[in-house]
Order: sequence, then C-alpha cells, then structure tokens
Amino acid sequence: MCGIIGYIGNKEIIPVLLKGLRCLEYRGYDSTGIAIHKGENLNVVKSVGKLSNLEEVLKKEHLLNGANGKNGKNGKSGHVSCGIGHTRWATHGEPSDINAHPHFDSDEKIAVVHNGIIRNYQEVRDSLIQKGYKFATETDTEVVVQLISYNFKETNSILKSIFKSVNELEGSYALGILFKQEPDKIYAVRREAPLVIGIGSGENYLASDSATVSQFVEKIIRLEDNEIAEISKENINFYNLKGEILKKEIQTVTRSKDILDKRGFKHYLAKEINEQAEVVSNLLKDFLPSHEKPIQFNHLKLTPDFLKTIDRILILACGTAYHAGLVGKYVFENLTSIPTEVQFASEYLNSKPLLTEKSLVIGISQSGETADTLAAVKKAISKGATFVGITNKQDSALADLAKEHLLISKAGLEVSVAATKTFLAQMTVLYMLAIYIAETIDSSNPKKLSLVKQELRLIPQLIDQTLTRQEHYQKQVLQYANNPDFVFIGRGINYPIALEAALKLKELSYIHASGYASGEMKHGPIAVLDTKVPVVSIIVPGETYDRVFQNSLEAKSRQAPMIAVAVDGDKKVESIFDTILRIPPITELISPFLTVIPLQFLSYYIAEHLGRDVDQPRNLAKSVTVE
Ligand code: G6P
Repeated sequence: MCGIIGYIGNKEIIPVLLKGLRCLEYRGYDSTGIAIHKGENLNVVKSVGKLSNLEEVLKKEHLLNGANGKNGKNGKSGHVSCGIGHTRWATHGEPSDINAHPHFDSDEKIAVVHNGIIRNYQEVRDSLIQKGYKFATETDTEVVVQLISYNFKETNSILKSIFKSVNELEGSYALGILFKQEPDKIYAVRREAPLVIGIGSGENYLASDSATVSQFVEKIIRLEDNEIAEISKENINFYNLKGEILKKEIQTVTRSKDILDKRGFKHYLAKEINEQAEVVSNLLKDFLPSHEKPIQFNHLKLTPDFLKTIDRILILACGTAYHAGLVGKYVFENLTSIPTEVQFASEYLNSKPLLTEKSLVIGISQSGETADTLAAVKKAISKGATFVGITNKQDSALADLAKEHLLISKAGLEVSVAATKTFLAQMTVLYMLAIYIAETIDSSNPKKLSLVKQELRLIPQLIDQTLTRQEHYQKQVLQYANNPDFVFIGRGINYPIALEAALKLKELSYIHASGYASGEMKHGPIAVLDTKVPVVSIIVPGETYDRVFQNSLEAKSRQAPMIAVAVDGDKKVESIFDTILRIPPITELISPFLTVIPLQFLSYYIAEHLGRDVDQPRNLAKSVTVE
C-alpha cells in the first residue's frame, strides 16, 4: 500500500514526480522520497511525513523553487529527465527519514522504490550479511536493492541481475529501479501489486494506479504478475521471469486533467459524502432503468441454471466493504432466501472453507487491491466456488480474478482514506445483485421485488434531501465532540450501519467507538455507559423499531446522553433522545442508504472540530496490500 511513480522524458522531473505522488498519497503518507539522475550520480531526497515535508526539503536543497513548483538545478528542458518517487505506509521499520524510500545499495549505484512485502527478506538479508553486506535500515526494501547489487556484480548485466533477484525474492511486490550507469532507463517489476505504465510521446510514466498516469497520458499498459519492464523515453521492453520478450496490449483510459479537484469542498471527505446521490443514481440508471423491467446484468455471465442451484452465498471483504457485505446478507436472505454468510477476509484465511461448486462467493473491495480479500477469494475459488467481484477499480487484481463475473461499483475516484461514497455504491450493487438473483430463481414474488425496485429508484432523491441537512447535523453533533467514547446500536439491516458509524468515528476523530447489535447491549457493553458515553441508536420504523426503542430506554436509564437517527415525523423518539438526527421517511429494507449519512457527518464534523487530518487520518492507508 505504498505508491510508486516514475518518469522518463523531457519534462522537468521533480514537478512531475511530485504531481504523481500527490495523487498516490492515499496509498500511504508515513514518508515520501524521490531518486533522480543528477550529473554522474543518483540523487535521493526523502523525508518522513507527508509530501509537503518533502517539498520543503527539496526547496532547502534548491531542487525545487517556491510557488511555481519548477525545478532548481535539475531536469532542464531538452535533457532527458529520469526519476522515481515513493509514498510509504510503514510495514518494516517505523516511519522515519532513514526508512523512507527510495533505498540505495551500499555503493549508491542502484535506487529502488517498493510497494508490498518481501516475505523471505530475513533469509535474504542474513545471506547477504554473510557475504559482507551492511544494512542501514530496518526495511525489507533495502534487501531488494542489496540483492540486485550483489547479482549485478555477479552477472555484470542489469537485466540479468533483476531477473535473478526477482526469482529469489518471495512475496507480493511492485518495484521501480534506477541504475546509476543507465541514466535513461527505469526498470519496473510487478508481482501481485499494481503497476501501470503510461505511454506518452517521447516520454513514459510508471505508477501504482491508472488514475495517476491518466493525469498525464491516455495510453497505458498494465504490467501483469511476474513481468518486468525496461522503460526508456521512446521505447519499452517487457520480459517474463525467464527473460523472454513479451508483447503487451495498449489500453486507452480517459484523460483526467485534475483528479484531485476538491470541487470547492474543504475536504475530499465532504466532497465524496456529497457525491453519494449522484453515485447511486448513476448505478441505478445502468442496472435499474425501470422498476417494471427485470434488472439488467448483461455482462455478468452467471447462468440461470447455476443461480437456481446456489446452496449458499459467502461474502468476503474488509473494513467498510465488510459492512456493505453485512447489509448485503440481509438483502440476499430477505429477497432470495439463500443462506448468506459474511466473513472478514483475514479471518476466512484461517477458517475451514465449507464451500461446494454450488456456492457463490462475493468479494468486495473498493480498491480491488486489499491483500486479505485477494487471498481469501483465491482460497474460495480453489475450492470450486463461483466468484463474483465487486470493486470500484476496473484495473485491479480483484477485477482480474473475477473475469466474467465482475461488477464495477462506479463511484469514481475516492481520495479520502475513509470510505463513504464507495460504501453506498457497494450497497447499491449488492441490492441489484440480490434482486437479479431473486428474479432469476423465483418469479413467485414479483410484487415484492417490484416494490423494492420502485423504492430503490427514489433513493438518490432521498439521499439528496438528507444531504441538504448537513449544516443542521453539524450544529447537533458538535456538543459531543469531547466525549471520549461512543456506542452505536442498531438491529437487523441497521446493525451493520452501527458498525460502520463506529468505524468512521474511530478512523476520522480517533475517538474510541463501538458498534453493537442493540440486543447485545445488556449482555455486557451496557457496563461502560455513564454520562460521558453517548449512545447513538439507529431507529427506523419497521420490524426492529420496538426492540431498538426498548434497548435505547435501557441505555437512557444508565444516564447515557442519547442520540437517535430517526425518520421525520417520528414523535415517539422525542421522549428519550436528547438529539435526533432526522432523515426522510424510508422503508427499513433500504434504510441503510439514509441512516449512514448523518453518521458520516457526525464523524466528519467532530473530527474537523478536533483538528484531525480528515482526509488522511494517522496510521491508515486507503488500500492495504499486506496481509
Ligand atoms: C482500509 C481502508 C478502509 C477500507 C478497507 C478495505 O482499511 O482504510 O477504508 O474499508 O481498507 O478496503 P477495500 O479497498 O478492500 O474496500
């Protein structure tokens, strides 16, 4: 979950690398760094913390001028500029200047940036130490660069040294490599971690995602696992691990000049929460153009025969995507009566896989890169289950695994680390899939399905109405900003929303929060309640209403400050709740689309009030490519 950028061409190198790193910062922001050719040497500049820290260091070293972002001494136009950059989420070794990438070999002749994990790094390190190598950092990346250096001395060939090293290194990783003796080439390696090459005219780019290169060019080549690229200004050679030349297909992406536009919002998070009506609306236009017609999933190659024999559904995901999966469980069981289980992908890896060829496995990941989810999905596929992937990224490892069973959640780029609009998009796709399966396997309840579809088509408008209340939510929630603990409760389909709300508050504000099934409160969690622990109840009319009300009364009697998410016109809640975050009236089965919104705002406004780094909370990264 680090970000890699590389450039070779005639542009000034440092501004290009910085622009790329800015787009990739979502992948980690513990430290950043760049390596460029400077005169005869490789010049590495790095800094702990965010990109702005690196910019300061570059200015101090006169490599970057002030406001215009132009270079100081390097990359004068007309000369070939060549460099790599990195933004880190620490795995081996604390965030520090020394552990920041790029890493040098001992002779400072090779510089490497790395995303991923070298699993046998200790073994390789020990063997290099025995050969006399000394290590300056705690990172697994330094092992890579020292190994390449050793193999280079052995083979006297750059390409051979890379092939040999990659064959010796285990793990999942992407690499960008510069050699001092080859100032006009970048080498790149991909193994189970994303890497994309952007092709320009007389210039080429390297990046961890296609969104970053799409800022510069529209032609891309995606590296596949175990492929190596030798990139120069005019030409790119591709190799497999045996050193054989490969032919690669060029793809076209939409050129996007400024993917980092905040559209006037103070934070990406606020922008992305405010885009939710549009996101759901776009998906509904595609899949559900009318409530009178069956759902369209033309590109999903699941046969009716298979759908009719599914024995169980297993949903695998992490974090917010897991919560979307939990909502999906209620929807699948309600509409299709197929037993559905949701597991944390990381836990599934240690469990006995009870799957058959009749099982449907759904993997959900906005990034499509989460290592736990990918590993869990591979395990499920190996047991013969059919796999459907739901992701926001067409060019991701999850999309590759899903092949013909892929559903893109089309939320657009989500920059803020805490997921919001991708959560609603994932839920929308799950509802569509559940209705699609229900319509295919059973036409006995068309009225119920038609009603759900009718209600879903109204969701964008109801989200819009909810969004208009954001300033009111802000005024209501700030009084709770200094409470050290929060408890969120919900039942049935809103239990996952209680979990998601607690996760969001923790991620954004660093306030401790827990989500519980409201019936569980009395079995232990109620012990933590007192006047300083607000309880937030998600209470919407429907099957669960009376029980959530009862559980809220129990919390109230322990003197907890009481907050509700409740629909307009519900007077009963006024008797026990101190603060009521109102949403438009909605049916329970689709209520998660609305109940989550005031809670996203609760976390946002409290975090902002506390001066937190809303878009890049401490210790987190948007895509987690380590298990
Ligand atoms: C990280 C992010 C979360 C996200 C989770 C799963 O932990 O910080 O916001 O929900 O990964 O990510 P995915 O890309 O698989 O949905």
